[in-house]
Amino acid sequence: MKSPDESINWEKVRAQSARESQRKQVHMLKAGNQMADAALPLHKSIYTDDLRFNAERKHIFLSQPLVACLSGDISAAGDTILFDAAGPSILVTRTKDGEARAFLNMCTHRGAKLVEETEPWSGVKNKLTCPFHAWTFDSTGRLIGQPGKEGFEKCNIGGRNLIELPCAEHIGLVFVKANPDADPIDAEEFLGDYADILAQLELWRAEPVKKGVLTAESNWKFALDTYGESYHFKTLHKTTIAKTNYNDKQVFNAFGMHHRIEFPKLSTGDLIDKDESEWPETIYGGVHFLFPNTVIFFGAVADNVFFTQVFRLFPDGVGKTRCQFAVYAPFGVESESHKANCIAAYDATATVVQEEDYRVASHGYANLLSAPQDHHVVLGANELALQVVHQHIAKTIGMPLEQN
Ligand code: FES
Ligand SMILES: [Fe+2]
Repeated sequence: MKSPDESINWEKVRAQSARESQRKQVHMLKAGNQMADAALPLHKSIYTDDLRFNAERKHIFLSQPLVACLSGDISAAGDTILFDAAGPSILVTRTKDGEARAFLNMCTHRGAKLVEETEPWSGVKNKLTCPFHAWTFDSTGRLIGQPGKEGFEKCNIGGRNLIELPCAEHIGLVFVKANPDADPIDAEEFLGDYADILAQLELWRAEPVKKGVLTAESNWKFALDTYGESYHFKTLHKTTIAKTNYNDKQVFNAFGMHHRIEFPKLSTGDLIDKDESEWPETIYGGVHFLFPNTVIFFGAVADNVFFTQVFRLFPDGVGKTRCQFAVYAPFGVESESHKANCIAAYDATATVVQEEDYRVASHGYANLLSAPQDHHVVLGANELALQVVHQHIAKTIGMPLEQN
């Protein structure tokens, strides 16, 4: 597994970064919320139009590097995950040499699926045997078993190994492009400076604890929008997040098409009139967005007991979203109670996201479908991250937001 320099004391890096964030948050609380220049109206077709959706599928979900899993999801040789949320059914494997590789989940005889389960599926597959006629492949995709081999000897179309897809592993993230004809992935170039931010999470050490699927009856961007602003905390999340965090306050940090947002805790307000030497230690946190569809939270379930949550949102048609949600023990499971805490964090978050955020996203999307032809939603200047992400998506698909 590739990981950055092991001599780095990441705990110390996180502590310094957390202090830096505190400074920025205190400054923002004094100076006023971080805002865009103006509100941004978005024509309803940005969410509902089939043509735009098809362009997103083609230029984003079938072209961009996507997070297929974390390194720890395929930690040992033979570990395999099914990744079919982006469109094609894909297997991501860990080979004996320790490499992560991705293949179409498609037998090269007559196309059957080698793994027939549905996501989220993962398991050990040292050999992949087709359920149709039993052709067998190893975890490098090589065809190693072919019953009745003599029947295929006079075949001149070349090798019958599995069809490989671009795959790259970097700082604990396994990226795949869901298109066998796409160019290779340059993960360092894709992440740019953001790699330094994500490295603080030590994702290469994360151990999966629980995973599942959340669904919204809405366009994927409508569901994604719920992660990028705190303007809704005191209404939609009044009994949960609003008890600990400010409403409608943020520090937004862009790194190319990616970003980190910090939503300050209410306790940060106590620091405004204090000298920095009196500030208590704080833990590193924040919402880490990886273009186009991945959100990573890092937080604590108790004093010095941490969890990492990863959300990956995929369209299931123009008006439906499937979110692959997983919780990890950031530095490995430390004890049974740590595991139980991570599971409790998963369950509590899944309930809030499914029953609060995705509930309103689903209602809003249904309403958009019957709104007047010229209807626009509006993203406030305070909903800065949403504006930025929509601009990046529009640019990537070559369809400006204003053309509708
Ligand atoms: S389709 Fe797989 S062995 Fe025939
Ligand atoms: Fe929310």
